[in-house]
Amino acid sequence: MSDEEPVRVERRGGAAILTLDRPERLNALSRATLGALGRIGAELGADRTLRAVVLTGAGEKAFCAGADLKERQAMTPDDVRRQLGLYRTELGWLDRSPVPVVAALNGVALGGGLELALLCDLRVAAPHALLGLPETTLGIIPGAGGTQRLPRVVGEARAKELILLGRRLSAAEALAIGLVNRVSPEGTPVVDDALAFLAPVLAGAPIAQAAALAAIDASFEVPLARGLEIERALYDECLRSDDRDEALRAMAEKRRPSFRGR
Ligand code: COA
Repeated sequence: MSDEEPVRVERRGGAAILTLDRPERLNALSRATLGALGRIGAELGADRTLRAVVLTGAGEKAFCAGADLKERQAMTPDDVRRQLGLYRTELGWLDRSPVPVVAALNGVALGGGLELALLCDLRVAAPHALLGLPETTLGIIPGAGGTQRLPRVVGEARAKELILLGRRLSAAEALAIGLVNRVSPEGTPVVDDALAFLAPVLAGAPIAQAAALAAIDASFEVPLARGLEIERALYDECLRSDDRDEALRAMAEKRRPSFRGR
């Protein structure tokens, strides 16, 4: 790792793999890391060939151990407030991405690390991963969206349990409550497993996938009647796409569709 490049980017086909690369600090989120993620998001946003993003951490120990507590020691309360602002400005694209974003949890995902994973659409965990929001045991609360996104994923009671008790869940426990979508088989690198899991997305229809993500995300923000209107409008976009015609042709010709995102 170098201080200039706290996040590595690699392309594998249509997927961009983003690796938090500060293993000596368990890939904790420093100001520079947040800035790098923001810049990478802006670059990827302009890439029409992108079909999915996988976010992971370097090494086998940690996906991300949360805020960089060593950096934070030197921060004033105002510095901390500014840093919380960066979570929104630099990481917001993960939440709004038109292509699916998957967190590949290669180890611990604690505090801001789990909040980062909660910004993603899907989560795949290595069997040894540990997940938790320990903030209240440190006299604070999750400040990067955890109190809002965790209950949306696992429900109110479980979110309160995890946040108030500061309990760490194993990958298997996280799978049981739907906090992760999948636990990788022992011995399979979690990024490889996440890419295999994503194979239908990588071969699928991008306009429909973006519409599905937007419609589902809207369901948490608007009343049902408005959500149904949004669904209808997004359905209409799909109906006008070449990919929809291609799917019907492929079905009639008994072959796999070849989607082009048009
Ligand atoms: N920020 C900066 N550095 C961190 C860090 C963080 N959030 N978490 C760990 N590190 C550093 C440690 O200080 C240590 O560095 P050092 O060797 O220079 O002292 C190195 O990463 C390895 O961590 P260590 O604690 O020795 O590893 P471990 O295997 O014994 O424990 C954890 C791993 C994740 C359980 C433990 O590091 C931990 O609880 N970290 C804090 C996580 C947390 O509560 N984050 C949320 C904050 S709200």
